Amino acid sequence: MRYEVDLHKAELGGLLHDCARQFEYEEIYRKCLHYGIEITREEADNKVLLHAKFGSFLANKNYGIDDEEILTAIQFHTTGRPAMSDLEKIVYLADYIEPGRDRAPNLKQIRKMAFIDLDEAIYMTMRDTLDYLKHVDDKSETLKAYEYYKKLHDEKMSK
Ligand SMILES: [Fe+2]
Repeated sequence: MRYEVDLHKAELGGLLHDCARQFEYEEIYRKCLHYGIEITREEADNKVLLHAKFGSFLANKNYGIDDEEILTAIQFHTTGRPAMSDLEKIVYLADYIEPGRDRAPNLKQIRKMAFIDLDEAIYMTMRDTLDYLKHVDDKSETLKAYEYYKKLHDEKMSK
């Protein structure tokens, strides 16, 4: 409501973002091979990532979602990506700041920022995520996304 995105789409993205989470990684991996879903090096190395891509596929195949924006919001809810749509940003952020989370640093600030400036909240989330991950491949989707949102952040700061 705050960002005037389609609430129905946001609801579906929220409900279905983890629809592949029930499967073990090996099963998701096998299913991806079976359905010809491409697995990137990063996804092969970092198992938790694949549930997002396969979730997007399942949302379409099993739940009849054909709205591209909902599907990409599900696909990128773990890594994010540069230049996300507002819906993608909201699903990504909501996953990070949902009430059940309590371990991530700066949650209080990010929760506030999410209602003030989406891009800034994304920047803070990615900064903390990369800090937590320590070592990431320089081709990592999260790193590419972080660099994009850091640039927006730096531009804002220099004004
Ligand atoms: Fe997830």
